[in-house]
Amino acid sequence: MCSIIGFIGNSRAAPVVVESLKKMEYRGYDSVGIATINSGKIMLKKGVGRVVEVNNQLNLMKMPGNIGVGHTRWATHGGVTESNAHPHDGCKKNIVVVHNGIIENFREIKKDLEQHGHIFKSQTDSEVIAHLIESNLVDGKGNIKKALTKTCTKLKGAFAFVVAFEDGSIAGARLDEPLIIGLTNDGYFISSDVLGFLEYTDRAIFLENKDIVIIDKNGMNLFDFNGKKISKQITQVAWELGEIDKGDYAHHTIKEIHEQKKSIEKAMLQDNERVNIFCNTIRSAKNIFFTGSGSSYHAALVAKNLLSRFGKIRSEVIMSSEFQYNLDNIDKDSVIIAISQSGETADVLQSIKIAKEKNAKILSIVNVHTSSLARLSDCYLGINCGPEIGVAATKSFTGQLAIFYMIIDKISDNATRFVDNMKFFQEIFEGIIQLEGEIERIAEVIKDAKDIYILGKSLHYPIALEGSLKIKELAYIHAEGIAAGELKHGPLALIENNTAVIVLNPEDETFNDTLRSTNEIKSRGAYIIGISNKEDIIFDRHIKIPTVNKSFYPIIEVIPIQLLSYYLALKRETNPDYPRNLAKSVTVR
Ligand code: AGP
Repeated sequence: MCSIIGFIGNSRAAPVVVESLKKMEYRGYDSVGIATINSGKIMLKKGVGRVVEVNNQLNLMKMPGNIGVGHTRWATHGGVTESNAHPHDGCKKNIVVVHNGIIENFREIKKDLEQHGHIFKSQTDSEVIAHLIESNLVDGKGNIKKALTKTCTKLKGAFAFVVAFEDGSIAGARLDEPLIIGLTNDGYFISSDVLGFLEYTDRAIFLENKDIVIIDKNGMNLFDFNGKKISKQITQVAWELGEIDKGDYAHHTIKEIHEQKKSIEKAMLQDNERVNIFCNTIRSAKNIFFTGSGSSYHAALVAKNLLSRFGKIRSEVIMSSEFQYNLDNIDKDSVIIAISQSGETADVLQSIKIAKEKNAKILSIVNVHTSSLARLSDCYLGINCGPEIGVAATKSFTGQLAIFYMIIDKISDNATRFVDNMKFFQEIFEGIIQLEGEIERIAEVIKDAKDIYILGKSLHYPIALEGSLKIKELAYIHAEGIAAGELKHGPLALIENNTAVIVLNPEDETFNDTLRSTNEIKSRGAYIIGISNKEDIIFDRHIKIPTVNKSFYPIIEVIPIQLLSYYLALKRETNPDYPRNLAKSVTVR
């Protein structure tokens, strides 16, 4: 996923665009570029690295002109190089384009344009947009609207782009990638993320698929890909700017881990009508399929277990990237429960589109209320944890779990009494945060581990998977979540002297079985970190969590692993907020 931003207004565009890119950098941070238009002249600067670094090298903030576009890249086609960074211009250098998404037919378009004399400077798919608009502008005798409608109907794949023209207009178009207009007294933003303009305005227009916007000195006009004029209502963005500020925290990630004390309570703030629809749809479903990616997939595994245990309702979990290969039992009687923080994950959206074609009902648990997933759902519940800037899912993950505990209680006559324990949870979270010093010391001991394994059974197994994902993406250490009972079926061969193993073993029905598995690895020299409410001689280090209703352990035991992953990142000097090769939301497949 990349971040794209355009600005046209009374202020000088460069500082505004650079600041916006800083706010959206979590979307992709391989390389950066901006272009401005000043009295009909286009200036373009771009480079490899983070926004601050490239600005220091190239003085981006100083560029003249009150129209500008900007981009931070997460590479899909073409390496991380200056020539592959956006913005891209065409041959005539009279337009500049920034793009988020993937143009699936870029090779045939590029070939055709090259045969008509166009010379390309990058290996990206995105550059074809610039050359195609330029070529259609010539064919359409400079008519921007015609050039854009022709270009948009030619492109295949998922795209949101912003284009600035030397005449001082800017425009944007979207298909399957978000694009939002921010309206201020000073001018307009066209952005892939509300965070790009939240500092200036909370008034926004969320473009839909096949919408085009053109903004020039006469104002703003909206069209569809057929060139038909359309109108959109202005909505108010719910998030506050303060929520995206790190405050006194060193990183967004640790701030968001600490915010969980409050965010699980915010997850309870739901519209009753909507919750009833959600629950009734689940109750009346012939078959239920969860889908999600990464941490959201792990949350779905917990949800499935809770639904079966307390709701006596069977469901299946299909990883979103596998969904299209598992459609045999999905039909009009199916209910798909999609879980996603961003609501823009391409694999999830693809799954939902396929399910809708089979007339399945779509429920979703999503953090961004204005996301594509929320809009595609028959009913969604908001995680309400505020913007999650750290690439690693933390508060959104526990928010997803919290919502499902609430759903289970609604469906099963308050079986877990989760909502009644909010105060208790806040004390527990507070207590775990007090363990931060001990957890940091444990990180010091295992920071050079080549591999880290996490064992868990039943409801702890999804947390073993989630914990291993946190360690991988934050500390770049190979980590693997293992169903404790599976050790003897292979993974035990991996255990040798001092192998670091985290064991999720609070006192519940899995306690003795997991302890037995722990003995097996201990006898082979493993270094055991026990996360449990019960001390045990077998643990080399013990992270003590409080004794709670056993169904609550998943939402409790994940916190120490989040903290451990964060401190491992610090000790290994990775950047916890912006892990290499990753982006906050994977909006390409
Ligand atoms: C989790 O820490 C990762 N950032 C990643 O696996 C993430 O959970 C996944 O990409 C799904 O994102 P979503 O919840 O926005 O759909």
